[in-house]
Amino acid sequence: LPSVDELAATLKGLGLEQVPHQPGTWPSLNPMDVYRSHITELLSRSSGIDPKVIYPTLAWTAKPENGDLQCAVPALRIGKKGDDLKAKAEELAKGFPESPLVECRPNATWLAFFFKPQPLTSLIIPQVLKAGASYGFNPNLGLKNPEKPEEGRKKMIVEFSSPNIAKPFHAGHLRSTIIGGFLANLYEAAGNDVIRMNYLGDWGKQYGVLAVGFDKFGSEENLVANPIGHLYDVYVKISAIAHEEGEQLKAKKAEIAKAQESGGDVTQLEAEVKKIEEEGVDQQARDYFKRMVDGEPKALGIWKRFRDLSIDKYKQTYARLNIRYDDYSGESQIKDESMEAAARIMQEKGVSEDSDGAVIVDLTKYSKKLGKAIVKKKDGTSLYLTRDIGAAFERMEKYKFDKMIYVVASQQDLHLAQLFKIEEAMGRKDVSEKCQHINFGMVLGMSTRKGTAKFLDDILRDVGEKMHEVMRTNEEKYKQVEHPEKVADTLGISAVMVQDMKGKRINNYTFDMDRMTSFEGDTGPYLQYAHARLCSIYRKSAEKVPDLPKPDQLATVDLSPLFESMHAADLVRQLASWPDVFLNTLKTQEPTTVLTYLFKMSHALSSSYDHLQVVGSEKSVMEARLALYCAARIVLGNGMRLLGLNPVERM
Ligand code: ARG
Repeated sequence: LPSVDELAATLKGLGLEQVPHQPGTWPSLNPMDVYRSHITELLSRSSGIDPKVIYPTLAWTAKPENGDLQCAVPALRIGKKGDDLKAKAEELAKGFPESPLVECRPNATWLAFFFKPQPLTSLIIPQVLKAGASYGFNPNLGLKNPEKPEEGRKKMIVEFSSPNIAKPFHAGHLRSTIIGGFLANLYEAAGNDVIRMNYLGDWGKQYGVLAVGFDKFGSEENLVANPIGHLYDVYVKISAIAHEEGEQLKAKKAEIAKAQESGGDVTQLEAEVKKIEEEGVDQQARDYFKRMVDGEPKALGIWKRFRDLSIDKYKQTYARLNIRYDDYSGESQIKDESMEAAARIMQEKGVSEDSDGAVIVDLTKYSKKLGKAIVKKKDGTSLYLTRDIGAAFERMEKYKFDKMIYVVASQQDLHLAQLFKIEEAMGRKDVSEKCQHINFGMVLGMSTRKGTAKFLDDILRDVGEKMHEVMRTNEEKYKQVEHPEKVADTLGISAVMVQDMKGKRINNYTFDMDRMTSFEGDTGPYLQYAHARLCSIYRKSAEKVPDLPKPDQLATVDLSPLFESMHAADLVRQLASWPDVFLNTLKTQEPTTVLTYLFKMSHALSSSYDHLQVVGSEKSVMEARLALYCAARIVLGNGMRLLGLNPVERM
């Protein structure tokens, strides 16, 4: 991490004797903190207003003509009602001391602070180049107590993806994976101790169905080769039989009723019904699942094998998305004891009640919308909700988390609201208040040319192929790419992820292959292109100029050739705001906060190239521009990696 001493030296060179440092800020990690503290100190000195009042009023501006930071004079809480605030703004601006870093101008009832471009450039570019992959992030934020780092970091669970074994990986899982991966990165970059957890759907009667199906249709070879696909096939086949048997039962029972009315003989029909009821798939599955619940080793062994092989396969696919998990949990892992203990508390506290042999929690007394939730079925078995209650307490026991995020589609809003409310009613605010549901909207029309996508691998393969086609339309460029298939794969993944993260999480969006794989518009490939171009600028320069400083040596080059350029100043300003964008993202918890910034920067970059050419310029000019572009590459890369993208260097 960049040191305060380095910053002090740089600021001294700019004419500032001391590092401006308001409490609770991190000047060596965030240049905006330097500016906010500096402005606060000067304004406080000239006006006598308490720095604690000034600091929080300093806000970003929407338009450059309003300055880089602004302050609403009314927010300074000075003077009395009816005062002329415009005049006050003028007076404050006039009294604002001379500064090497900023200029203060009145703007109606606002104060507008403009960063002087030269010192900003001299401050930012070396800072970005030195901080490199850490620029923008702040690992102090996750400390339990920033004053006492030895007390450790906040423990945080991010539960995401959570697909169901032997079922399709649907859009809800895709979004949970992408958004959850991003949130885990985000909180880690803020210094939290993050546990990435996958909570598999791997328990319930359907896994008895699956085992019965595997007996009939399973193939050891296919299972090992493609566990996820094969188990799904088996499940589909056996479910069809179970369904068919169910229909037969209904029909035969109707026939029996009819025959009995007319006094006919039903012995044969009854025998048939009995046979299905006793020997059909449904009963076999029940028996099998009972053996699993009872912990019979053989039954559990097969099921565990399905689970383990599926997890192995998932791990490979997640790796393509730069995701790894610390904990492959799942509904099956929740201990009976935890659920029984929870049931006891619910009963003792009068949270739950009997209803027709089942146990329910009537949440309508808290809110009508929450309805009544079943926590135990008539036959005594647990449900999805029961397992989530047990899981939350087990996780608290195991990890003592400070915060837990469930990344789950908004279709399950009610489920999670019920979960949190039940915990609270049980007197476990220590858990419920630390939990948050991060929800998101639906993906519409997620089908591909090969039919409806069922598995994550298929989705990624399809976009990879489509991306390859798009790349091929530019024959010239295509020929220069070394491993086109690999690049297409990475770009395809970026395409899917960026499309998913572009809008607010809660919005639905349409899965549009053509749009997401285009190099035009705000897409993943466009962002990758912006990054690759910055890499290629350095590469090409290094080919032409043999003794060019290495990227990490650019921090000390003379930056004065950038001082006259508006384009450079604009880019530098954007680089300076990246740490604030990161902070803001922690507030919004929206990937679009990062993406919007990255696209804005990419646009600024692409309109700067004509004005700030590198190859062909004089050496000193070349070095200064390269320092700028390398800094831009670092910030673009940091943002992309935060989102979970894999920035490419060539394409
Ligand atoms: N497996 C569930 C599904 O596919 C999602 C699990 C979400 N997490 C939770 N703790 N309930 O619908």
